[in-house]
Amino acid sequence: MSHTNTNSPTPCVAEKTSCQFRQILLGVAVVLLTAATGLAAELNPPRERTSFNDGWRFTKGDADGAGEALSYTKIKDWLLPTSAELTTNAALLAKARPAGNPAENISFAQPDFNDSQWRLLNLPHDWGIEGPFNQSYPGETGKLPWWGVAWYRKHLDVPATDAGRKIFLEVDGAMSYASVWVNGQFAGGWPYGYASWRVDVTPFVKFGADNVIAIRLDNPKQSSRWYPGGGIYRNVWLVKTSPVRVAHWGTAVTTPKIGWLSATVAIKVTLDNASSAAAASVKNEIFELNADGSRGKSVAVTKANAATISAGGSATVASEASVSSPKLWSIEKPQRYVVVTTVEQNGNVVDTYETPFGIRKAEFTVDKGFFLNGQHVKLNGVCDHHDLGALGAAINTRALERQLEILREFGVNAIRTSHNPPAPELLDCCDRMGFVVMDEAFDCWAAGKNKNDYHVLYSDWHEQDLRALVRRDRNHPCVVLWSSGNEVPDQDRAAGPALAEEHRGIIHAEDPTRPCTAAVSSYKAGFSGFQNHFDVFGWNYKPDNYARFRAANSAVPLFGSETSSTVSSRGEYFFPVPESFNSKNDRTALADFQVSSYDFFVPGWATLPDAEFRGEERNPFVAGEFVWTGFDYLGEPTPYNADVSNLLNYSNPEDKAKAEKELDEIGKIRVPSRSSYFGIVDLAGFKKDRFYLYQSHWRPDFPMAHILPHWNWPERVGQVTPVFVYTSGDSAELFLNGKSLGKKTKGANEYRLRWDDAVYQPGELKVVAYKNGKKWAQDSVKTTGAAEKLLLAADRTEIAADGKDLSFITVTVADKDGLQVPRAKNHLQFAVEGAGEIVATDNGDATSFESFQAPERNAYNGLALVIVRAKPGAAGTIKLTATADGLTPATVEIKASSR
Ligand code: GAL
Repeated sequence: MSHTNTNSPTPCVAEKTSCQFRQILLGVAVVLLTAATGLAAELNPPRERTSFNDGWRFTKGDADGAGEALSYTKIKDWLLPTSAELTTNAALLAKARPAGNPAENISFAQPDFNDSQWRLLNLPHDWGIEGPFNQSYPGETGKLPWWGVAWYRKHLDVPATDAGRKIFLEVDGAMSYASVWVNGQFAGGWPYGYASWRVDVTPFVKFGADNVIAIRLDNPKQSSRWYPGGGIYRNVWLVKTSPVRVAHWGTAVTTPKIGWLSATVAIKVTLDNASSAAAASVKNEIFELNADGSRGKSVAVTKANAATISAGGSATVASEASVSSPKLWSIEKPQRYVVVTTVEQNGNVVDTYETPFGIRKAEFTVDKGFFLNGQHVKLNGVCDHHDLGALGAAINTRALERQLEILREFGVNAIRTSHNPPAPELLDCCDRMGFVVMDEAFDCWAAGKNKNDYHVLYSDWHEQDLRALVRRDRNHPCVVLWSSGNEVPDQDRAAGPALAEEHRGIIHAEDPTRPCTAAVSSYKAGFSGFQNHFDVFGWNYKPDNYARFRAANSAVPLFGSETSSTVSSRGEYFFPVPESFNSKNDRTALADFQVSSYDFFVPGWATLPDAEFRGEERNPFVAGEFVWTGFDYLGEPTPYNADVSNLLNYSNPEDKAKAEKELDEIGKIRVPSRSSYFGIVDLAGFKKDRFYLYQSHWRPDFPMAHILPHWNWPERVGQVTPVFVYTSGDSAELFLNGKSLGKKTKGANEYRLRWDDAVYQPGELKVVAYKNGKKWAQDSVKTTGAAEKLLLAADRTEIAADGKDLSFITVTVADKDGLQVPRAKNHLQFAVEGAGEIVATDNGDATSFESFQAPERNAYNGLALVIVRAKPGAAGTIKLTATADGLTPATVEIKASSR
């Protein structure tokens, strides 16, 4: 058989006998092949989606000659076909992949390249967070080295029994300009670092053999306004399917009719076919999902629908089901369901695909704001960037969940994924925990903010990136708004309206059910006509103009898409405190590269939380707000990203002298800040005072009172030291060492109580808050003794031994009575014994250049954080010890269990 050429016509007429023989042999071969494929089909589940995170080799830097050969402009035409399923652009679809193979001579892409000297690691991975910090890095993006070229390589054994299956590499996010080679052959890639994408590797894979996947990233400088991270920082999956299968993100589940007795669930399933023309049937079954994500009872089944799919084509099958007594998804009770789609051919199951969803009705109205299931919900939202503090950009589900738990505590019910597509896990958490989401695509469109930001990709990629976002996320009940951009410079340009309209068209083609918006910062754009190209208008920092907007725009729902931008450092208070809150650029707020936590300092474009509260109370048609920001984030250390030489005070004369010298020598002060001051919560997850200001307003029924500042001011005895109280009550009486300093009552549109004349004496400050004349809540702060001991408190003392789950341990520097010493900066050391390891440490100090991976750091105003995980597979006890010179050490035990 070796010299039989099955492609050439067989001369059967002349050689009848041998021809018959050959046909018999062919027949046998077909039977054997069919049997083998049948066997393979029996052995293989119809769809496999497995984590492809572990065991990658990594190097920073590039292969010889790669920089030039693989620049984006050179390989753009090879990359674009990866996005074919996400465009309707005929020109792009007509474009075939160019001939040849980029990186033919590039060693790192070749299968036989010896990468054994490269670092072995597991994804998700962010090379930037590993540091070191440096003041001289370009931009105010975290003072961490996140840019540059890096390569990842991994071996993949593809069994012979996979022959005939489709194989995809799915990447939830890689920062950025990713190109993928399989066995040295270019397979595809994606430039936008926040997009999720996949590459069909089937044509390049060797079945029954070892395969090598190589991924090159090229993260450009001047491409971000905040810390983007660098690396394959989200999860990667290997997906194997039959030739006839549910397409990528190929289901769309909507709930067109919702009643208490029943809900209609409409399910559209798109099938792809990589074989010859095929007939298939599609059936859907709906199950309740339990809170832990496991499947509950079956609640509805659709009848099997037939589909015919042309060779290499697609077909969409629509069906409906009715769920009786539906349990609606809400913020309080986030009930989820799942559609399980089964695709059959000739009675064999060729695919099963799960689509979690929720049954809920979300609606923005012009005159009353936002409604969920017919109930008015004020959006108490925050904007957050994607980094997870000391963990960097590398996605970790527990870290996200912890952020949401902390946000929930002060009343947050809405998240804006500023300014880019989030990790899919964030939306899963929001579905599960009950947060609504404004899902955002871009920080700019055609006109950019930075030399190398998204505007350079916009014309070639925005359609695919926008479709990818909506197609990926459209079944999440948490998503209630699509945002096509943030403060895009195009908002005030002639091109703006047409671009906005085009985006609206793309969004609604993928999801006709949810409104689209953008976060607009221009005042003019609220009136120029630009506002009419959105279903809901998002305005940044305009609480004093809401009424004017409504007067001019009677048909456009409105919300505060980005608000406040107040800055503060946890536990820092500077004096004197100005009487008036209109103290933009008031230098008394700034010292030592920190910002006073009396919460009165905002940059020029921003407003205090109070101003936004007032704007919304006076204009109840506003659907709510998204505060900039919930958590501090890496990069953008406003107000210390500009020249602060005329604003800054120094408490330490040596620091002052150093700054003055720098000013003389290099004309500016070198700012040491690595992270933002905007957070209501600091980078480590510790509450700033503003946490309680928001809690008092957003959780009016939760009895609480909070006093600031701390009461350790030995240098201020006898001096005026104002005291503020944030309370959900309406009035409060303050006592210093048992003596009343008077009762204060909030006036209309007032949100804080102030005792501006309080004079410091050590002892105890106590506040008793009242609501409607009745005692409501109280709080006290005491002057502490000297630091004597450490205390450790884990947020969870039992974690999964999977190498991913985390325990966040708060370290407190305490006096002999266990009170947090509010200005303590002691140097702390951490050691771990047993089944775990320290992943990162932090203290929330925006000026700290201590490595996030170091098992030591200074406390910042009495606190530090240690993040611990179990070593993969190592169940048992993890014992963390914290020590510091002169202080009694502390230990905490965490149980790591294999569940
Ligand atoms: C906004 C911008 C945000 C952030 C913020 C800081 O104008 O949209 O990304 O830069 O300012 O206040």
